[in-house]
This record gives sequence, structure tokens and C-alpha cells, in this order.
Amino acid sequence: MTSLLVTGIGSLVTNDPSHGGLLGEILDAALVIEGSTVAWVGPRTAAPVADNAIDVAGRAVIPGFVDSHSHLVFAGDRAEEFAARMTGTPYSAGGIRTTVAATRQATDEQLTANVARLVTEMRRQGTTTVEIKSGYGLTVADEARALEIARQFTDETTYLGAHVVPADYADDPAGYVDLVTGSMLDAVAAHAKWIDVFVERGAFDEDQARTILQAGIARGLQPRVHANQLGEGPGVQLACELGAAAADHCTYLTDADIDALAQTGVVAGLLPAIEFSTRSPYPNARRLIDAGVTVALATDCNPGSGYSSSIPFCIALAVREMHMTPAEALWSATAGGAKSLRRTDVGHLTPGAQANLAILDAPTYLHLAYRPGVPLVAQTYVAGRPV
Ligand code: NIG
Ligand code: FE
Repeated sequence: MTSLLVTGIGSLVTNDPSHGGLLGEILDAALVIEGSTVAWVGPRTAAPVADNAIDVAGRAVIPGFVDSHSHLVFAGDRAEEFAARMTGTPYSAGGIRTTVAATRQATDEQLTANVARLVTEMRRQGTTTVEIKSGYGLTVADEARALEIARQFTDETTYLGAHVVPADYADDPAGYVDLVTGSMLDAVAAHAKWIDVFVERGAFDEDQARTILQAGIARGLQPRVHANQLGEGPGVQLACELGAAAADHCTYLTDADIDALAQTGVVAGLLPAIEFSTRSPYPNARRLIDAGVTVALATDCNPGSGYSSSIPFCIALAVREMHMTPAEALWSATAGGAKSLRRTDVGHLTPGAQANLAILDAPTYLHLAYRPGVPLVAQTYVAGRPV
């Protein structure tokens, strides 16, 4: 196995607190990659020899971002809907049906090419692990093909047949729940790790969501939930009741919701690019963190509520608008994302971890929030290879 020494690292974020602080930052550091994994990290002066070496000339190295929430399998866009929102039209779940219609029309090749384009965009911005949901097919065949396509790009695939009740079932929501928990689940179970439900007024209510999530759990899928995005509601409590990995959005929370997240350890996924693009209030990250809740930051990249593939943008929003410290924001977009996906092999740079990292054109990770909108990722490595 070939080894690579990365030396001259001005600041190395390991996310290993044994190196000090939340981020386990090592200054004037080096790192050794063997094959696809991290073999060694430490001070440059103590670095072992390796087969090959690169000197990154004082740049910062951080763990690759773990984007724990995205909807990349779709066709078309909704730029006009965005423009209307900016002049006052509120976001509603109903817009999902526009993308469903376009996605059903698209060929497999078109959908695959669109996912490839977006995953490339993400990698250029430092993302090395991405969760991808279905949810714009909403027929048995279209949900199955969405997940088969997603699986070509990631192991973190999520069945979101319960995104919205499609127009063809508008008069029979109960029939749609039967489909989602019946033949649609049969068709997708082999292609998905997770099951998700959009629990919201205009989408699925608490009882429907419980039925759907329990059906998925019975088939070996693990639950995660779109919760409390557009208003207070039962999503967070349901996620906690069912032992979900994550409750994502968490824009409108009660004290009881925050207590439940803290007590159960369900990760709160915060998606500030959505509040940016829907002109909604940002979630209260400080209240969550101060209550001991584990927070993940993710893009939720989708053509409707927010079409950003950029974790650096989310970090900048989290720091500027949500009062997370730059260290908390980076931790949440790496280690927090890994916790949201129940992964121990990513989100940190410690020996044995996957060698997923980003080299920044900056001396420290602080520049991610300090220099918003600037393409600071010089090179991304996935499993030890530049991508
Ligand atoms: O996470 N909230 C539900 N689903 C997506 C939006 C989907 C859409 O508007 O197309 C979200 O924000
Ligand atoms: Fe989403």
C-alpha cells in the first residue's frame, strides 16, 4: 500500500479533542495517508517517512464535509418560484409537485447526469460524504429509480416516498400512505439505508408519519425526519419517540422539543441555506447547543426551498446569522454530519478514519466564515485520492 505524507499544514483540524479544543486543531502539522485511510497525524517535526510527500505550504487541512441532507435526484429547477419568494410569496410544500412532474418526465440518463453535476459541485466545495434522498418520483417505479441512481453516488441513500402526497392521490391520502408502506417500500428497501418523512402541515401528519416510519423500520431502514420546518409541530417529538438518527430543519422548536432532543441524543440537522432562500427565521442554534443537543449542518440542496450545494456557505450563515462559533459550525458540518449519518469512519482525521479531507487556500478554517462566497477549497481528497 502506498503512503503519502502531507506536510507543511499550517492548521490541521482533526476533530479529535485529545489534541485540544472542540476541533483538535494541530498547528504546523503533518498527516500520513496509507491507501484510503489516515495512518498518522501530528506535528510536522515528528512526521514519519512515507513513499510520497506533498507540501501544502502553510494551508489549512480540514476533514471533508459530511452533508447529511440533500435531495439531488430531480429534473428542472424552480428559479421563478425563488424570484417570487423574494418579492413576498411564501414558500409552501406544494411546490414539490412541480419538481415531481419534471422528474417523472426525465430519462434515467438526465437524472444521473444531474446528480453527477451536483456531486461534482459539492466535492469542489469540500464535501466528501453526502446523503441523497428520493422524493421527487412518488410512484413505485420513479422512487425505485431515484434510489438506484442515488446509490451510484453514495451509500447514504434515503427513501422519501413520503415527501408530499402527489397530485394523483390528492383525494386519497390514506391510499398514498398504503402505497408508501406497501409496494413502494418493497421496491426500494434494497436500495436505501434510511427512511424519511416530511412531517408538516401540507405534507404528512403525525399518525401518517409514524405509520410510514414504523413500516420502514420493520424493513430494516433507519429513520430520520423532516421536522418543524414551517411551524411548530409533532416532527421532533416523533423523531425522538422512534429513535431517529436526526430531526432536520428544527426551525420552530418548543422548549419540550429541545429537551427531547437533548435527552434522546437525536441529532438536530440545521439547514440555514433554506432559511436564506425562503426568507424564514434561522433556527436557534445557540439554544440547541447550550442545551447539549448535537447539531449537524447540512445543505438540504434541492430545487425548491434552497438550491445551494455549498457547505462553506452554510458555515458562513451559521456563524453570521445563527451565532455558532466558527469552530462549532465546522464541527457540525463534519463530525456532526457523521453523527447524523451514524458513521464513525468519516467526519474526523484520526488514524483509521477514511482519508477524506479538504485543503483550503487559507491559513486556518476561520476563513470559511470570514471570507464568505470565496472558493477556498483548493483540493478535496476522498478515500485518499484527489477528486
Ligand atoms: O427539505 N421540506 C421538504 N423538502 C425539501 C424541499 C423540497 C422542495 O421544495 O422541492 C426541504 O426543504
Ligand atoms: Fe429536505
